[in-house]
Amino acid sequence: MIIRSVTSAQIPEILAIFNEAITNTTALYDYEARTIEKVTQWYDAHVQNDFPVIGAFDEADTLLGFATYGHFRPHDGYKFTFEHSVYVRTDARRRGIGEKLLTALIAEARKRPVHSLIGVIDADNTVSIRLHEKLGFHFCGKIPQAGFKFGRWLDVVFYQWINTIFTIY
Ligand SMILES: CC(C)(COP(=O)(O)OP(=O)(O)OC[C@H]1O[C@@H](n2cnc3c(N)ncnc32)[C@H](O)[C@@H]1OP(=O)(O)O)[C@@H](O)C(=O)NCCC(=O)NCCS
Repeated sequence: MIIRSVTSAQIPEILAIFNEAITNTTALYDYEARTIEKVTQWYDAHVQNDFPVIGAFDEADTLLGFATYGHFRPHDGYKFTFEHSVYVRTDARRRGIGEKLLTALIAEARKRPVHSLIGVIDADNTVSIRLHEKLGFHFCGKIPQAGFKFGRWLDVVFYQWINTIFTIY
């Protein structure tokens, strides 16, 4: 397995991973599957902003998962805080890929002006919560009934990693 940056060639594979999560899970709160145009816009914006999009690839160069981050909130004062995400294909889980991707994302974040990464996680997503706790993210808040999907209210929790070395004076 190889960890490296994804290119625009992987957009269809990213689309498939997003849409599996949208259709079958509450990992994403979208109702409608994304389109190739929407994911292309998303990818281009990440490239323009120098946000890493890191992929895990098998020997055949198939994308097994990816991790990335983007703006946390679109206001100047949040410019050092980012919301990240990590997705692994359903048939590639429990092989350490999510952990490798998130570890690589943190390493990239350390090279950039990033003070904080925030995981915005559905409160029932214990797998993601355990992954984040394992990598040193700390629980920093919960919004009950912040979401509504599949006919029920969803609580959302926030997990934070702070780059204590990156400081602004
Ligand atoms: C969350 C996700 C990225 C984990 O990826 P993964 O490659 O399966 O995880 P890993 O094999 O690297 O496991 C790393 C750690 O995560 C936790 N974990 C992973 N799968 C787990 C499971 N089924 N049950 C409990 N803990 C689990 C464990 O702490 C594990 O460490 P361990 O192996 O020492 O126990 C993956 O399940 C996924 O893509 N889920 C759907 C999308 C999603 O929820 N993304 C996060 C949105 S915030």
